[in-house]
Amino acid sequence: MAEVVRTEREGEIAVVTIDAPPVNAINQAVRAGLQQAFAALRADPTVKAVVLVCAGKTFVAGADIKEFDTGIGAPGYHEVYRLIEDSPVPVIAAVHGTALGGGTELALACHYRVADKGARFGLPELSLGIIPGAGGTQRLPRLMPLEAALDMMISGKPTVAAKAAEQGLVDRVIDSELRSGAIAYARELLAQGKGPRRTREQAVQGADKAAELLAAKRAQVAKTMRNRVSPPALLDAVEAAVKLPFDDGLKVEQAKSDELPLTTESKALRHLFFAERDVSRIPGLGKEVKPRNVAAVGIVGAGTMGGGISMCFANAGIPVTIVDAAQANLDRGLATIRKNYQRSVTRGSMSEAQLEQRMALISGSLDYAALSTADLIIEAVFENMALKKEIFAKLDKVAKPGAILGTNTSTLDIDEIAAVTGRASDVLGLHFFSPANVMQLLEIVQCAKTSPDVLVTALDVAKKIKKTGVVAKVCYGFIGNRMMDPYGREAERCVLEGATPAEVDGALEKWGMAMGILAVYDMAGIDIGHLTREARKELLPKDPSFYRPTALLTEKGWLGQKTGRGYYTYPEGKRTPDAESIAMFAAEAKRLAIPQRKPDATEIVERCLYGMINEGALLLEEGIALRASDIDVVYTAGYGFPRYRGGPMFYADSVGLAKIVARIEEFAKTLDPQYWQPAPLLKKLAAAGSSFAEYQKQQTK
Ligand code: CAA
Repeated sequence: MAEVVRTEREGEIAVVTIDAPPVNAINQAVRAGLQQAFAALRADPTVKAVVLVCAGKTFVAGADIKEFDTGIGAPGYHEVYRLIEDSPVPVIAAVHGTALGGGTELALACHYRVADKGARFGLPELSLGIIPGAGGTQRLPRLMPLEAALDMMISGKPTVAAKAAEQGLVDRVIDSELRSGAIAYARELLAQGKGPRRTREQAVQGADKAAELLAAKRAQVAKTMRNRVSPPALLDAVEAAVKLPFDDGLKVEQAKSDELPLTTESKALRHLFFAERDVSRIPGLGKEVKPRNVAAVGIVGAGTMGGGISMCFANAGIPVTIVDAAQANLDRGLATIRKNYQRSVTRGSMSEAQLEQRMALISGSLDYAALSTADLIIEAVFENMALKKEIFAKLDKVAKPGAILGTNTSTLDIDEIAAVTGRASDVLGLHFFSPANVMQLLEIVQCAKTSPDVLVTALDVAKKIKKTGVVAKVCYGFIGNRMMDPYGREAERCVLEGATPAEVDGALEKWGMAMGILAVYDMAGIDIGHLTREARKELLPKDPSFYRPTALLTEKGWLGQKTGRGYYTYPEGKRTPDAESIAMFAAEAKRLAIPQRKPDATEIVERCLYGMINEGALLLEEGIALRASDIDVVYTAGYGFPRYRGGPMFYADSVGLAKIVARIEEFAKTLDPQYWQPAPLLKKLAAAGSSFAEYQKQQTK
């Protein structure tokens, strides 16, 4: 194996290079390499300064996350970073790419920091349910003002080099080649007679206002990072930095960072880190399957979805042609896109010039012939099979050979749509979520005949437009909406059993969902789900209570926020319980003779989530979802499922599958048994004392 840490000499300067592809993550080998290098340099009196750089695309992007599962092998971070900080000659970190986590902490342990102008510094540990554990909580507030340090650690967002320099984290931003710039900087330091400048010897900046600031941050995280354990732990460690000598503060940090990787929160977040990277690995598809080039995109339909999807491509610099049947639709669609961009300009996240650049990439046409040069065409008209078939027949005629034809349907049978073309192998589903330019998730639906390179192209396109693409097979609702079906069903049934909409939503939100499902229906439009169900009425359960509240609201014309009332009313735009709709649900429950169980918060959450999880198990068995972890990514990226709970299947594992099966079997007795039959896979895993994670491991062996 190539050496992961090497030392070269440039006269009196030693250059230590970390070379551990792909992102120089620090593991035992890197720590041991650094220890060896710095111990040797210490013993060499001819070395006057040390420059620490990284090979490849980035400075150290953090601790190797895999090591949290196996335990940190010796030498530990503190030992190595202390050795570097103790160096008798100045040590200069030269940072490019993204210094993250343990990488930023490594730079903090050096005496000086220079950065490439494109470099960024971040401490994203909270996003993994841990805290900076290599001295970051103690050293950062000694280099930059306490408030800025707290913001950096709480937000987890990387800071660009120029800003880091303003804040005191970076001593010099280097415009030219970094390595030689860093060496030149080291020589300047030596010429000025500057020696080591140890971070631990500096005072915390803004310690006098710390009590107030920490109290404010505690209140902030209690509200915005509800149910989480790592944010308060971070604040405890920073408080220790303020109140205690460096070494004692470090001990507080250490104790917390020893415990946190063992929490479910951290395991869940680490699970998602790898799950999000696994989604693009398709079993059986090797690197030899290359994506097709997508340089121009066509969109059919200038409505909300078509417009949002067009923005995704324009944002990635890819030209888009939108075709619609009516000029008025095109005009309205293009105006909406401009309005959306204008909002970003007003907010300051985009310049006028960028707006014009993006608009210049989007053109409209009434003629399908305008799509003849597109490499990828996405149909985004409303859910109507006959219409979609008509469009695909037309696209088949105009699209160039090799063009990929995608449909944005969320429910329809895409194999049936593909069959009207003479190129079913080029057809697939591309299910964007509304608003398409904002939502992270893209479900990529592989049809029976979709060719492997078309699938790989879709995954590649997802990356280019910065979406998380997850592959699903064809079935009603694919992964996301199919699992929403039992979730919403139970929420609505609970309403008929006497829980108010605010109680149902409150229980789900308290548990961690970004928004209660009934509030979501109000936001999306109550009629949307109702109309989809009406269209496949004959396939639905023979149960008069099935999604009855939504049907009632639709019949009343109370369609949610767009009509000012639905599950709630909206005086002055504020979501408020609606006595009238609650009375209507109660009357309907009476008519249907539904027992008034008045389910409590625990039961509401269990029914909604266990119904969803059971459906997830069926999806795995049917092969609709490739992996349990893909389902978790769908839910956390697209449905407001709390990341710190890891997604529905990870959550199921954390509860214990046997407990879930037992509850489902109980519900079969106390509730409607037609909905409460444990999926065979769930039952089998529970009986074996196994888990979805274990099942996935076996599957991919
Ligand atoms: N540990 C282990 N593997 C890592 C890693 C890490 N910290 N960071 C990235 N990788 C792996 C990825 O899993 C991926 O592997 P595969 O190719 O096998 O899928 C590979 O490196 C490349 O990563 P990306 O696909 O994400 O590449 P990118 O160019 O899109 O992004 C990145 C690069 C910005 C560094 C991104 O990978 C990232 O954000 N990484 C996470 C960094 C992080 O969270 N660090 C903090 C770690 S915790 C810590 O450091 C605690 C402490 O206090 C000691």
